[in-house]
Amino acid sequence: MKVLVIHGPNLNMLGRREPEIYGKATLAEINAQLESLGTSLGIRVETFQSNHEGAIVDKIQQAFGNCNGVIINPAAYTHTSVAIRDALLLLDVPIIEIHLSNIYKREAFRHKSLISDIATAQLAGFGAMGYQMALEAMSRMLR
Ligand code: DQA
Repeated sequence: MKVLVIHGPNLNMLGRREPEIYGKATLAEINAQLESLGTSLGIRVETFQSNHEGAIVDKIQQAFGNCNGVIINPAAYTHTSVAIRDALLLLDVPIIEIHLSNIYKREAFRHKSLISDIATAQLAGFGAMGYQMALEAMSRMLR
């Protein structure tokens, strides 16, 4: 079993970026926790972060036929990217959309996700813990 975890723009700055909204955990810490949880669940976790829409599209295309599930925080591209949405539509594996913050409690422009209606599930507002919840849920879905 292999699960790809994709982190969108500015998530490389976690820990330093608006910690009152996104928390203190760094992306390296979140990824390390996911990898270790993956080991105990028998799932190989690959993590990927990019600030570039096209690079995220390329990564999703490479996942086609190569992974059993995708967990994605498209970050700001959640609200704008038809290209990431279209790439995700290529995949026939479960997709979990995740956000650290509760996007529905924030500015109106964050309330619209171009991903949520094509994702298998969405999780928002649990902070860094949400990634572990998403991987646990993915593991159950895949079994
Ligand atoms: C985010 C929410 C987005 O609106 C924002 O642009 C982000 C992070 C979150 O994880 O809460 O960069 O996806």
